[in-house]
Amino acid sequence: MGYHLPVMLNECIEGLNIRPDGTYVDATFGGGGHSRAILSHLGEGGRLIAFDQDADALENALDDSRFTLLNENFRHMKSFLRLHGVRSVDGVLADLGVSSHQFDVAERGFSTRLNGELDLRMDRRQETTARDLVNSASEEELTRMLRLYGELPNAYQMAKAICRARMEKEIVTTFDLRDAVSRHLPRGMENKYLAMLFQALRIEVNGELDALKEMLQQSVDVLVSGGRLVVMSYHSLEDRLVKNFFKAGNFEGEVNKDFYGNPIVPLKPVVRKAVTASEEELQVNSRARSAKLRVAEKLS
Ligand SMILES: C[S@@+](CC[C@H](N)C(=O)[O-])C[C@H]1O[C@@H](n2cnc3c(N)ncnc32)[C@H](O)[C@@H]1O
Repeated sequence: MGYHLPVMLNECIEGLNIRPDGTYVDATFGGGGHSRAILSHLGEGGRLIAFDQDADALENALDDSRFTLLNENFRHMKSFLRLHGVRSVDGVLADLGVSSHQFDVAERGFSTRLNGELDLRMDRRQETTARDLVNSASEEELTRMLRLYGELPNAYQMAKAICRARMEKEIVTTFDLRDAVSRHLPRGMENKYLAMLFQALRIEVNGELDALKEMLQQSVDVLVSGGRLVVMSYHSLEDRLVKNFFKAGNFEGEVNKDFYGNPIVPLKPVVRKAVTASEEELQVNSRARSAKLRVAEKLS
């Protein structure tokens, strides 16, 4: 299967500060690269619970008695951990975004370069696809999505072009969508704008920002004090949420204070600035280019 190199593997492992007999969560199993490394740092008594909402990831499950893979959304992390008898964990890792496998399979619809059904669901048990969305959302809804989640400067024009194209014929494939907006892709920036458009649809289809928020909040609930939360994000909307949450325990980034003026925060960032991949890694793994890694520790 088309799973590739795990991004910032050493940095993630260092961030988790693994205790050999600890219990860890890999919230985004994918090809299992990070999980494999976590297991190699765990002893006999250690445990790793992994999540992936994409059933394709199950084919990569690791044959190890210390390991459990759940085909679930990490937004339900806390209840599934409880269901598996886990009440607290020593570390949570989340490597957000799309796996190389999802990108490489045309019919999943993630790649702007491959022609395939415009699907974009990570979890195919879910009903709504990107095809449904682009053919049924109102022009206003599309504009909002493209502006908010794609950060597209010409969101309105693109939404209008999508609505015009779908009156002629249903938008079914990734290339149908590309053709519908082709006049609104600035010269030399075609791929960048298309990527922003697909990102917007993907975030909406998968409810990615809400899932991230829930996962972050539940991580605080399940982490032991001193436990680590390690999150890698691939675009600024995600990174902003992570950054604010690590700093303030909320998504606005405003630190609340108690009566005496002491900050009330559940986490402490371990590194002040987001970590990015080294030059060496970027040479061999282009997927690492936009990755930002943040590490926080649960306070008691
Ligand atoms: C970037 S890949 C992870 C790659 C992995 N770290 C590795 O080493 O192979 C992200 C994975 O997380 C999954 N994913 C994304 N959002 C999720 C969510 N809300 N719940 C569960 N899995 C999710 C995707 O299906 C994808 O397989």
